[in-house]
Amino acid sequence: MNVLVTGGTGTLGRDVVMLLRHSGHRARILSRQPRGHVDAVQGDLKTGAGLTRALAGMEAIVHAASATRGPLAGRATDVRGTRRLLELAREANIGHVVYVSIVGIDGVAYPYYRIKVAAEAVIRHDIVPWSILRATQFHSFMVFALRAFARLPGIVAIPLAWQFQPVESREVAQRLVDVVLGKPAGMLPDFGGPEVRDFKSIAESWLAARQDTRRLTNLRLPFKVSKLVAEGRLTCPDHKDGLITFDQYLAEKYAVS
Ligand SMILES: NC(=O)c1ccc[n+]([C@@H]2O[C@H](COP(=O)([O-])OP(=O)(O)OC[C@H]3O[C@@H](n4cnc5c(N)ncnc54)[C@H](OP(=O)(O)O)[C@@H]3O)[C@@H](O)[C@H]2O)c1
Repeated sequence: MNVLVTGGTGTLGRDVVMLLRHSGHRARILSRQPRGHVDAVQGDLKTGAGLTRALAGMEAIVHAASATRGPLAGRATDVRGTRRLLELAREANIGHVVYVSIVGIDGVAYPYYRIKVAAEAVIRHDIVPWSILRATQFHSFMVFALRAFARLPGIVAIPLAWQFQPVESREVAQRLVDVVLGKPAGMLPDFGGPEVRDFKSIAESWLAARQDTRRLTNLRLPFKVSKLVAEGRLTCPDHKDGLITFDQYLAEKYAVS
């Protein structure tokens, strides 16, 4: 099958591309800066540039591109860009678009999640037959978030009670590949990692893996979003699909670096 992978240069999309190609399919990448990538078309969801060329000859799309910096860029890329992509995809007779979203985003009024909900609504509009897979936070995102919190010398201040169910992005990518090679399936069951853990234990594992002796301390955030995350709203304990644990991810990551 010929599959266009938007976001094919990103954390998740790279694995989707690799897995499709390893299983004998064609994966064309859409990227704003495709230099150095094989079978990649330059394009931009925000402006629409290059999309028609990227879609030519394709049969399906894995839509994994997303602008995470700022709600304005997010709306233009994720919401209006998704609509633009789908309208052109319909003209190009694309038979299936698979969109990747995030578990639990309804009702958690974080700006990026509002954008994801709006982008899902565009997909559900049936412009092109669709599937949506919601996944929990990736292992690599946990490390990114911890680094963002760990800016002070001597301590790491985080909301200790936040609950996550981190998942290996490669396993999400494999699920997306299985989905795109099948028939459009609408809203799919959530896809989560093997363990629900609080941020305290996630941070403890991260500090230990890096032999980092900084002290963990609780960061109180007086926002409703923080309370909802602590209640586990971003987790899906009934869907422990991933096999690779966060500790296994850390062991692999810090053994090589
Ligand atoms: N990270 C997580 O924990 C997590 C969890 C669940 C679901 N998801 C979802 O999974 C998807 C991928 O996430 P990720 O973490 O892999 O993202 P990422 O590494 O930040 O990659 C983002 C991708 O989007 C592309 N992109 C951004 N703006 C674009 C634009 N205007 N036009 C075309 N492409 C654009 C980038 O391509 P270029 O820079 O090459 O143009 C890049 O390949 C997102 O939809 C995200 O919401 C993420």
